[in-house]
Amino acid sequence: MPNTNASPASLPEPRVKPTPGKAPAQGWSFFIFGLLFLSLVQAAERPPAAAVASAHPAATRAGLEILQAGGNAFDAAVAVSAALAVVEPYSSGLGGGGFWLLHRTRDGYEVMIDGREKAPLAASRDMYLDSKGEPVKGASVDGPLAAGIPGEPAALAYLAKHYGRLPLKQSLQPAIRLAEEGFKVTPHYRRMAAFRLDVLRASPGAAKQFLLNSQVPPVGHIIRQPDLAKTLRALALKGKAGFYEGEVAQRLVQESRRHGGIWSLADFRQYRVKERKPVVGRYRGWRIVSAAPPSSGGVVLLEMLNMLSAKDLNGLKPADRVHYLVEVMRRAYADRARWLGDADYVQMPLQRLMSMAYARQLAKSIVMNKATPSSSLDSVRPEGHDTTHFSILDKDGNRVAATLSINYPFGSGFVAEGTGVLFNDEMDDFSIKPGVANVYGLVGAEANAIAPGKRMLSSMSPTFIENPDHVGILGTPGGSRIITMVLLGVLEAVEGRNVETWVSRPRFHHQYLPDVIQVEPGAFDAGLKAALERKGHVLDVKRRPWGNMQAIHWDRREQRVEAASDPRGMGAAQVEPH
Ligand code: GLY
Repeated sequence: MPNTNASPASLPEPRVKPTPGKAPAQGWSFFIFGLLFLSLVQAAERPPAAAVASAHPAATRAGLEILQAGGNAFDAAVAVSAALAVVEPYSSGLGGGGFWLLHRTRDGYEVMIDGREKAPLAASRDMYLDSKGEPVKGASVDGPLAAGIPGEPAALAYLAKHYGRLPLKQSLQPAIRLAEEGFKVTPHYRRMAAFRLDVLRASPGAAKQFLLNSQVPPVGHIIRQPDLAKTLRALALKGKAGFYEGEVAQRLVQESRRHGGIWSLADFRQYRVKERKPVVGRYRGWRIVSAAPPSSGGVVLLEMLNMLSAKDLNGLKPADRVHYLVEVMRRAYADRARWLGDADYVQMPLQRLMSMAYARQLAKSIVMNKATPSSSLDSVRPEGHDTTHFSILDKDGNRVAATLSINYPFGSGFVAEGTGVLFNDEMDDFSIKPGVANVYGLVGAEANAIAPGKRMLSSMSPTFIENPDHVGILGTPGGSRIITMVLLGVLEAVEGRNVETWVSRPRFHHQYLPDVIQVEPGAFDAGLKAALERKGHVLDVKRRPWGNMQAIHWDRREQRVEAASDPRGMGAAQVEPH
């Protein structure tokens, strides 16, 4: 894909609100010409194929099944989300939340459905600190006290009601089937379950659902989740009320409180998804659409891209290019830590953070032969790992990029018996003690302090990119590294590489603190490492790669659709011509 250097002004502005149609004004010839013109425009707006890319083949199949049944991308998103909740219990689920970024072809409407978890009404700023004011080990990570009020079931009901074509009941069918019939344990499932074995064992509901005789089940063992199927059926039949009212809600609250949690029925009654206006910016002729707060993703991504606009990246030697990217990451993540939180609770200088003037000022502080110590910048904070992402394009050009989470592998590890619902541990995404290191040795900020009903800051960054010839849909799990992975993916797209490269390219990451470049194994050769160390960087070469990007590319000029699933994961990307 070539880097088109179209001026930003030549790109069509998205309409963020649907506009009512207007009657033809000047007689039949104008009307017929108008219809012809409209059909030509619509043809160009229609891809030659639909596509689904998700982290699990069964979830990708669920999405395709719903598209084939006449559903649109939004119905398919319901099906994929619910299927992932069943077959990837270590990544997302009904007990968690997420962000669904939508693009509707009909009117260009773009929106982020915010189904992020909320702090329970009984939560308080210092709830994870002991009498000496120190964090209690594991308190914000393990067990029901670590869980925010789930948002995913409300988001699925909302998506189906406001954007889908099919009833919720139909779109949830593949997930109900998967919960009843079961799925096979994979090596990845085993790794995740082994990592969280102690907490899974501590919850009788979780042990019954995810372990075999209190041990990690062998590869090929079938995980059936009849209680989860029952809860999904309640959601299918009654919509949002099937989860947030009645028997399911009562059981969730009862079990939470019986095991040390603080959920209440009032929490469930007051939970609402929010429609958020996505963050929109431009980079070298591409329009970038990404997640708005309470995700930090879009803001940090645009701040980084704005700083990169000031530099001819292709003119740099490899070590200088990596150095520049790292310095850009460092600065944007410092701002994340300092300023960002839930827009419903904190005032954030978003316009300034995403302005070119600010980016130019930050970029000027980058010295090409020397790393900037993070200690010389202000503030801090990133977070956990695991989560999931999927991307969908339907035959009408509707798009969905969705990143969903329960935070850590298997969330809090707690399942409310009788519901099959695995609780998230998203409360750890708050700054459990602003200004002081949290359980990960990271420091948080006031903007992201815990408050009743507040959404915790996220890094999830479902993203669309677009220029007159190309459309990209992408995102990935990976905690605080999500945003830099999306950045590297976007740069691959802008530099004209194919979608396989967006998802597979070697990765590196800097998040301000710790003041190190995290590097995937094999990503840097010896020469590059030495050159970066000479500039004063400290390299932390990890033992394992990270991320699980799912992406779709629609080449509008050549009328071609391609999709790719990160080779680091076990996902499936499928293109369905029509
Ligand atoms: N729990 C991961 C995130 O929201 O960024």
